[in-house]
Amino acid sequence: MPDSRPIGFFDSGVGGLTVLREVIRRLPSESTVYLGDNARAPYGPRSDEEVTRFSAECLDQLAARDVKAIVVACNTASAVALGTLRRRYDVPILGVVRPGATAAALATRTRCVGVIATQATVRSRAYFQAIKDENPFIEVYEHATPDLVPLVESGALEGLMVEAAVRHALGPLLDRREDADDSVFPIPRDAVIDTLLLGCTHYPLLAPVITAQVGPGIAVIDSASATSSALASLLEVNHLLAPTDALPRHALYSTGDLRAFQRTNERLFGSFFPTVEPVALPGAA
Ligand code: DGL
Repeated sequence: MPDSRPIGFFDSGVGGLTVLREVIRRLPSESTVYLGDNARAPYGPRSDEEVTRFSAECLDQLAARDVKAIVVACNTASAVALGTLRRRYDVPILGVVRPGATAAALATRTRCVGVIATQATVRSRAYFQAIKDENPFIEVYEHATPDLVPLVESGALEGLMVEAAVRHALGPLLDRREDADDSVFPIPRDAVIDTLLLGCTHYPLLAPVITAQVGPGIAVIDSASATSSALASLLEVNHLLAPTDALPRHALYSTGDLRAFQRTNERLFGSFFPTVEPVALPGAA
């Protein structure tokens, strides 16, 4: 029996739209509901307890909208809270860490992968573990680059300031010896990566700047495409695919400033997505 209920998507802000866009391209008959917790973004500097509690409050909202599956389109929430969230709801829940890790493990030729992500994601070691699960012989170098999230949330995707922030963020991974390495897990100076995994759903929006800076020798990978493939399999295995002739509906919700979300949404995606609507979380101040 086909199932035309929507798929729920959750991120701390606008970053998860990069995953949603990919899913809509790949599964055009599916309806979707997206919730961005912009009022409390960024999640990256928060404690695991806060990330888990906020994520559960957001997923409660999606569950109340009768979604048939949920994509946690936020690496920080996937890295820190996925187990707790899966225990809390009956619907299948997909995170973005494992699909991204698998894609990176398959992309590297030299078995040397760099990961940029939020502080909470790096602290969790979720990517380190997931890539090692794929291939224990891969060296994984993780670096927290929190300064990039507020840039994307504000719609700043190019220009000198963005280039400088990206250069600074990538310094320790690109063996720029003059850059101080403030990584939680210091990166050896002689590490040479051939694959850079964008371990935060906000970062693909900076991909043109990132790709220009890393140069042609490094493959830049994000979770969006791998996650949409994993979602397609999940729906198929669970007999949850929408009828192929379904007329899909898409809804966007934000806990934060709607005008700012809408501005960023339009700047990033044009008229691809509908107008954002407000949602109030019982737990939020
Ligand atoms: N987009 C999120 C991620 O993938 C979170 C960014 C943040 O809120 O710090 O990690």
